[in-house]
Amino acid sequence: MSPKPSKIAPSEGKLGVLLVGLGAVSTTFIAGVEAVKKKIARPFGSMTQMGHIRLGKRTEKRSPLIQEFVPLAKLTDLAFCSWDIFPENAYESALKSGVLERSLLTEVREDLEGVKPFPAVFDRNYVRKLNGPNQKKGRTKMDLADQLQGDFRKFQETERVKRMVMVWCGSTEVYLQPKPVHQTLRAFEKGLKENDPDIPSSMVYAYAALKSRIPYANGAPNLTTDVPALLELAHEMKMPVSGKDFKTGQTLMKTIVAPGLKARYLGLSGWFSTNILGNRDGEVLDDPESFKTKEESKLGVLDTILQPELYPELYGKIHHKVRINYYPPRGDNKEGWDNIDIFGWLGYPMQLKLDFLCRDSILAAPLVLDLVLYMDLAQRAEMKGIQEWLSFYYKSPMTAPGLYPEHNLFIQEMKLKNTLRYLMGEEQITHLGLEYYE
Ligand SMILES: NC(=O)c1ccc[n+]([C@@H]2O[C@H](COP(=O)([O-])OP(=O)(O)OC[C@H]3O[C@@H](n4cnc5c(N)ncnc54)[C@H](O)[C@@H]3O)[C@@H](O)[C@H]2O)c1
Repeated sequence: MSPKPSKIAPSEGKLGVLLVGLGAVSTTFIAGVEAVKKKIARPFGSMTQMGHIRLGKRTEKRSPLIQEFVPLAKLTDLAFCSWDIFPENAYESALKSGVLERSLLTEVREDLEGVKPFPAVFDRNYVRKLNGPNQKKGRTKMDLADQLQGDFRKFQETERVKRMVMVWCGSTEVYLQPKPVHQTLRAFEKGLKENDPDIPSSMVYAYAALKSRIPYANGAPNLTTDVPALLELAHEMKMPVSGKDFKTGQTLMKTIVAPGLKARYLGLSGWFSTNILGNRDGEVLDDPESFKTKEESKLGVLDTILQPELYPELYGKIHHKVRINYYPPRGDNKEGWDNIDIFGWLGYPMQLKLDFLCRDSILAAPLVLDLVLYMDLAQRAEMKGIQEWLSFYYKSPMTAPGLYPEHNLFIQEMKLKNTLRYLMGEEQITHLGLEYYE
């Protein structure tokens, strides 16, 4: 069961980062990596760049940097490739996104100008608020998947990359539920050839990536690889997949605060979350169908953390509302308000108010970096299928059928670090600690 340390292939040569969507998150990520490489900024928010990991007993005082403990690719090994319906290069797109200051972008301008998006696989039926000129043409969805595979080969040859990882940083697609075409790989491939309307663009990318033995991470709540057909392909090609939906602003806070309330058996009668944001993501989410995909992803969190089935008195009647309002003046600087109605001893009510003035892409960029490096580690360690240990990064973690997802950020962190210990043949940390008192 355990992939032994010797089974992890070394991180040799360049790692290609395939970004679908060259918008706010992708450009903030690329610009950040280049700025860190030039030592003009620090990679705060990234576990792989900042984090230490404790090994052995507390008395051993062994806490190496994660990047020195596990064989991760280096920032200098990364090469970027992208797709977008807009032809602007990463510098132009970063300026338009308005996340990073012009002075910082000027310092990495040349690097960003070198990242020009390939024409996208795009269909307005799945993202209704957008349209752009840089799109592939193909008779069938299978043709489009073939063209993507051609792009991978072209990039691999020109950049001489040894391995690749794809991360979906494209817009949120409309809400879709699994259909018969998603049930087996055979049905799915038939659907690609027959242009089945239940195969959105994101699935065409994921199919092409997995078919080319490229791991796929899903930063949006789109269904994409969360269907049996694409999981079957991931297993067949022995490739890891992970998702869905980067856990950044408000949901990050929810998965920090809710486990704390639960640990103290404080009851909850309502949680009202509202967001105002004005970036392109906010505009796409202004479409009710795209919002529904996001809403499903955001709503699931509380139920699994609070376990109302075990604690009906405390969590059986929660009014949980999530709103996203597109408000252009704020740009990428989102405001997430939470009003939390709780109750304590003898049922006495209390309120907790959180107002998170956050920056969406600043929170998301380090997650993209960590996911790229960990997904690459997973492929070199021959870990295939769903990577539940990466739940830490997602609002709506993928799990094996029948398993509920773990949303508690602290359990997710422990699971991630224990997976790293396991991969490197170190003992798991259980926090039992009785031995210190023997
Ligand atoms: N920033 C965050 O905190 C955060 C958190 C969770 C999830 N996300 C998700 O990450 C994604 C990216 O967010 P963003 O702020 O960068 O959005 P953005 O709108 O700035 O960028 C998305 C880009 O994807 C492109 N695109 C859409 N469909 C495409 C397709 N089929 N092929 C290629 N390109 C396509 C768009 O043209 C756009 O440039 C969104 O789905 C968002 O919901 C972001």
